[in-house]
Amino acid sequence: SRWLYDARGSRLFEWITRLPEYDLARNEFAILSGHLDAIVAPLAGARCTVVDLGAGDGHKTRVLLEALRARCPAVVYAPLDLSRAALDAAARRARREVPGVEVRPVLSDWGRGLRVLPAEDGAKLVLFLGSSIGNLEHPEALALLHTIRGALRRGDHALVGFDLVKPVEDLRRAYDDAEGVTRAFNLNLLARANRELGANFDLAAWDHVATWDPGRPAMESWLESRCSQEVRIAGRVFAFAPAERIHTEISCKYDEPRIEELRRGAGFDAAGLFLDGGRRFADALWRAGEGAA
Ligand code: TRP
Repeated sequence: SRWLYDARGSRLFEWITRLPEYDLARNEFAILSGHLDAIVAPLAGARCTVVDLGAGDGHKTRVLLEALRARCPAVVYAPLDLSRAALDAAARRARREVPGVEVRPVLSDWGRGLRVLPAEDGAKLVLFLGSSIGNLEHPEALALLHTIRGALRRGDHALVGFDLVKPVEDLRRAYDDAEGVTRAFNLNLLARANRELGANFDLAAWDHVATWDPGRPAMESWLESRCSQEVRIAGRVFAFAPAERIHTEISCKYDEPRIEELRRGAGFDAAGLFLDGGRRFADALWRAGEGAA
């Protein structure tokens, strides 16, 4: 997933989050605003550090930071992102919109960024919002949640976003929108390979395809070859038949038992599960408990 988010990819993804077909971000925003008191209650009164994994445009985080600033003696905000452009934007926005919160951006992937965490003092809240977790296979999702748990001390919290299983037609539209923004987002991988790996993909020779795998369950994104072609990538040549696909992404969809399974597997205690009115998205609040990770 990480290769989707260069400067252009991050911009395209922000655009996706505003598409009528893609309601994930709006649903999550509704959850965070609607359940703000309950979500931040465990941190009230403490000096705290909010770690934002894949901060994106930071829009959802702002409501949380404002609430914490009003309830905590000191708040540090540590956005963590792979894209320098997205990270700078998140840091700038936080400094402007939530003055009084100390901003410490971290340019890093999730794993490495989390290892610097235990040095922070005070109560920690790790945000893993959006549906980034859905872009990981089940074992990898579990491993990352374990890493998060390992970076936390007893009483710290994690808030994790899960997109819920919903009617397939809604999902198809969300991952293949009418304006073609998702298509551009997916094809940007090829432009990036051309630029950074010396590849020679002809972008006009590829289609964006989104399919539903009910077994996983997950939406899957592909790039489909429109013809018979050969592509050079970093000195190697790959042949593609017409309609042959490159698998680029999965977006797993969850239900409550699955969320609970991940929570228990990662060694967290439940502290709340918050859904939007349409039950299309969930934010799970987990507490690092007594047991070891
Ligand atoms: N995390 C987002 C998601 O799974 C990323 C995303 C949205 C995405 N649309 C996409 C990834 C299309 C690949 C293709 O919903």
